[in-house]
Amino acid sequence: MPAPSLEARRSAPAVARNRGPIGELLLPLLPASGLVLEIASGTGEHAVHFARQTPRLTWQPSDPTPEARASIAAWIAAEHLPNLRPPLALDAAAEDWPIGQVDAVLCVNMIHISPWEATLGLMRGAAARLPEGGLLFIYGPFRQDHVPTAPSNEAFDAELKRSNPRWGLRNLADVEACAAASGLARAQVLEMPANNLSVVFRKAGTASPGSGAVP
Ligand SMILES: C[S@@+](CC[C@H](N)C(=O)[O-])C[C@H]1O[C@@H](n2cnc3c(N)ncnc32)[C@H](O)[C@@H]1O
Repeated sequence: MPAPSLEARRSAPAVARNRGPIGELLLPLLPASGLVLEIASGTGEHAVHFARQTPRLTWQPSDPTPEARASIAAWIAAEHLPNLRPPLALDAAAEDWPIGQVDAVLCVNMIHISPWEATLGLMRGAAARLPEGGLLFIYGPFRQDHVPTAPSNEAFDAELKRSNPRWGLRNLADVEACAAASGLARAQVLEMPANNLSVVFRKAGTASPGSGAVP
């Protein structure tokens, strides 16, 4: 396979803004060692940033789009981090994910920029691969019952729906119900800069029907 071109590296301005606040919450919650699967890695900058800070963890980035995977591979080639694996072609909505058991799952800014099936698949796939107590950490903008949605998020929602009617801000209660149906219990909701939330889920002790473990 040819070496990835470093020119394929892409940068998302939001990552430079949110990786610090996300890392402050996320890194202390991660296990001391093991495998972290990132869903919807996009440019790959989060995986690179967090892998650099956690040498005892192995990071597995993924994304369904070839352009994203080219960017991730190019960042990996540039950074030479031994704990960062080549990107997987992984569509969260797919029944089968190309990976077995993992120790934690991270998903930043995907749930509102994908059809609802991706969230259903994220919860199903993460629950099937995490050990009891294992972490699923999601980040992004959400609607919340009894909390007015910020005007900037309302505008963002309208923009997303213009791009794709199946996209848009999700109600956190719906996301939590979807997680619970797969055996993931919400542990924490934390307010983040720019009207985003970090939401921490833990794999519950007893698997619910349909969340069978993956070999
Ligand atoms: C706004 S970008 C966020 C990328 C990165 N996590 C970040 O924060 O910069 C949304 C990403 O979700 C990915 N995505 C969309 N649908 C997906 C799906 N069904 N499964 C996994 N990833 C998906 C896109 O390819 C894209 O890379």
